[in-house]
Amino acid sequence: MSFMAIKHYLQFADFTLDEYEYLIERARIIKRKFKSYEPYHPLTDRTLVMVFEKNSTRTRLSFEAGMHQLGGAAIYLNTRDSQLGRGEPIEDAAQVMSRMCDIIMIRTFGQEIIDRFAAYSRVPVINGLTNEHHPCQVFADVFTYIEHRGTIAGKTVAWIGDANNMLYSWLQAAEVFGFHVNVSTPAGYDINSALVSPGNQRYTVFKNPADACEGADLVTTDVWTSMGYEEENAVRLKAFDGWIVDGAKMQRANKDALFMHCLPAHRGEEVSADVIDGPQSVVWDEAENRLHVQKALLEYLVLDKI
Ligand code: CP
Ligand code: NVA
Repeated sequence: MSFMAIKHYLQFADFTLDEYEYLIERARIIKRKFKSYEPYHPLTDRTLVMVFEKNSTRTRLSFEAGMHQLGGAAIYLNTRDSQLGRGEPIEDAAQVMSRMCDIIMIRTFGQEIIDRFAAYSRVPVINGLTNEHHPCQVFADVFTYIEHRGTIAGKTVAWIGDANNMLYSWLQAAEVFGFHVNVSTPAGYDINSALVSPGNQRYTVFKNPADACEGADLVTTDVWTSMGYEEENAVRLKAFDGWIVDGAKMQRANKDALFMHCLPAHRGEEVSADVIDGPQSVVWDEAENRLHVQKALLEYLVLDKI
């Protein structure tokens, strides 16, 4: 079974540039309304179900608060307390949940889990992070860059650290928005080419992380050990030595370069305190913008529902 006509947001590449431009405009308007306490309830009586198989602060809060602010309700489920943790097939869960709500957000492990869930869902499904992708965060980051600098097309983003879900979403965003990504990962933690579209010409790999920062307009990184990989932490700490984003690396970037991190961050590991807490850092804007872009996304997907 597959409800082919339903629009989901499972990867960054699921939307076109036109759709992102529309959503960015909506996010700007929705943000303005929020800042001026103007009630805006297009999703009255609509329900979002949020399924978390991993921990979260920002994703849960931004979706739950966002749905409430749009006039709807949000229900939180996790693997521990739901039947998902006791082996109910994902296809069955999708059919049941999607008969009782208007939209579903999932944070889980492999991308194939969310793909299978979406194939059996009657309502739109949003990826709230998988091992391979984190499209909502990269959408918020692109929105944040555009807010600060006007346009991201033609710019250079330096990705320093692990080849993880955030990087794969950045590589898709580069294709959609027309910017370039300089990637530097330690040996043995290289890009998995199976997760990059074959024709993607929008990135260059650098052995030396400082060289990847040269001339960058945005320097960004993420934790060295993502959720689900905790047993590798000690080995990764050694392998990633030298990949910290510190003042010396920011010096190689353009003078007006921004620093981003999706958070949570480990000061002294992937980023130094002076960088993340310094004047080039926009990490709190990134976090806040999760709320605004996801409200635009919820409005778009729910109201477009067939
Ligand atoms: N950046 C992000 O997705 O944060 P959480 O894990 O707290 O949701
Ligand atoms: N790459 C990180 C992002 C956390 C928001 C992880 O998957 O744990």
